Amino acid sequence: MDKVITLNQTNIPFRSGLFSRLYLTLTLASIVLIWLVSIVGNYTEEKQSLISKEHRNTLLNYALEASDLIDKNNIDQLKKWTENLKRKEDTWVAILKTEPKWLVGNIDTDIFQGISDLTIGRDINYPIHLNFSYNPVMKIPIPDSQYNLMIQLPQHMRPGAYWHVLNTTIRLGFPIILIAIICFIIYRHIINPLKIIQNATQKITQGSFDIDIDESLLYRSDEFGDLSRSFGTMATRIEVLINRQRQLIQDISHELRTPITRIKLILDSEIKTDISHRVEQEIDGMQRLLEDTLTLSWLNNEKTKVLKESIDLTLLLDSICEDARFEFSRDDIVLNIPDSCIIHNSNHRSVGQAFENIVRNALKYTNQGTQIVISMSAERSSDKSKYVNISICDHGFGVEEQYLEEIFEPFFQVDSARDKSQSGFGLGLALTKRQIEAVRGSIYARKNTPSGLCFIINLPYQ
Ligand SMILES: Nc1ncnc2c1ncn2[C@@H]1O[C@H](COP(=O)(O)OP(=O)(O)O)[C@@H](O)[C@H]1O
Ligand SMILES: [Mg+2]
Repeated sequence: MDKVITLNQTNIPFRSGLFSRLYLTLTLASIVLIWLVSIVGNYTEEKQSLISKEHRNTLLNYALEASDLIDKNNIDQLKKWTENLKRKEDTWVAILKTEPKWLVGNIDTDIFQGISDLTIGRDINYPIHLNFSYNPVMKIPIPDSQYNLMIQLPQHMRPGAYWHVLNTTIRLGFPIILIAIICFIIYRHIINPLKIIQNATQKITQGSFDIDIDESLLYRSDEFGDLSRSFGTMATRIEVLINRQRQLIQDISHELRTPITRIKLILDSEIKTDISHRVEQEIDGMQRLLEDTLTLSWLNNEKTKVLKESIDLTLLLDSICEDARFEFSRDDIVLNIPDSCIIHNSNHRSVGQAFENIVRNALKYTNQGTQIVISMSAERSSDKSKYVNISICDHGFGVEEQYLEEIFEPFFQVDSARDKSQSGFGLGLALTKRQIEAVRGSIYARKNTPSGLCFIINLPYQ
């Protein structure tokens, strides 16, 4: 789960949205499709438009037969033979003498493809136009003579009988198969992450927050990557919130048990003097605990707070310290603060409670005669916005380095504090932190030198 929290938009080296991926895939697929159909189509057409070897041999044999008759100079026989061939092949047949009359140059077979000279008739080795409905006239040179056998290609020798079927298959079949493959890939690309997220949702529905989102999905640089990352963060946050609430309920029940047991003991004891005063004390404690817990739970859950008030921090700190001095009968709080310091869009009650908790802690956890110094100064943050920096430092026994963050957790108390009869429930700093954050400020603790604790609070001016 940790990896979910640390991953965000900026950790992903480069981003490619779903749109650009789809666009690229479809464009490439279309180009491949067009290219494939034209290459395969042309190749098949060429292969299909050649007269088969068997028929070519038959035609060449006819030319040989004619050659025999021409050798014998038997024209009548040749005429008969021609008539027979016409009937046999149900076509047109003639014998033609060709005398090319080139004055300059000779025939270039590359240019006159399929034409052996400039007279009509096609070479039997060249392709036939499959789209023409009529059969072309073939010209087969008669060996050892100046004559050519001219014969309109007999219908049964015409190539490309399957051409239309093949053509349709190529032009329809290829797109159907290729588009199906592309659709499948796109479908998987979209549906897989949805399935993973759906599984995670189901786990959460069943109360388990230990969701395991596939790493490949977390690192995806498109909208699904964003979704999975924010989903992971959401699950972690919900888990933390729920655990915090559970812990809170556990801690309250635990804290309430002690005073209730004490009240029972008081009521059961033999010595019945001053019962009401002691019971009242315990009930006061329980009431404080419940009030603090309610406030804490309200601050945990409610994000909105009325931030409309302007506060003079000098006046506020002055009056808090005045009350504290009186209550703790101590005169060792030193204020290093300006005559006036007004902040806007804040909340008087939140800031007041936060200051009060820290000042009271400082008095509670230090001995008489050790100074508590409160300083205030205006600062500028890295983004140039102005804020007020308030430090409240004491010279008591402080807390150890390892607890400096933990003291802000609800019910956390360092052991030495627990022993003190005056101590509270460990809710004060948890409340303080949330109050400060509710007015868009921040707070942390650090060790003071040579001893003691410092709380640093930053509050925005506006
Ligand atoms: N100024 C301080 N000096 C030493 N310890 C402190 C000081 N302030 C707070 N702490 C420690 O932090 C713990 C939490 O403080 P807080 O949340 O106010 O609870 P509580 O005062 O009710 O114990 C205290 O129990 C105490 O151990
Ligand atoms: Mg306290």
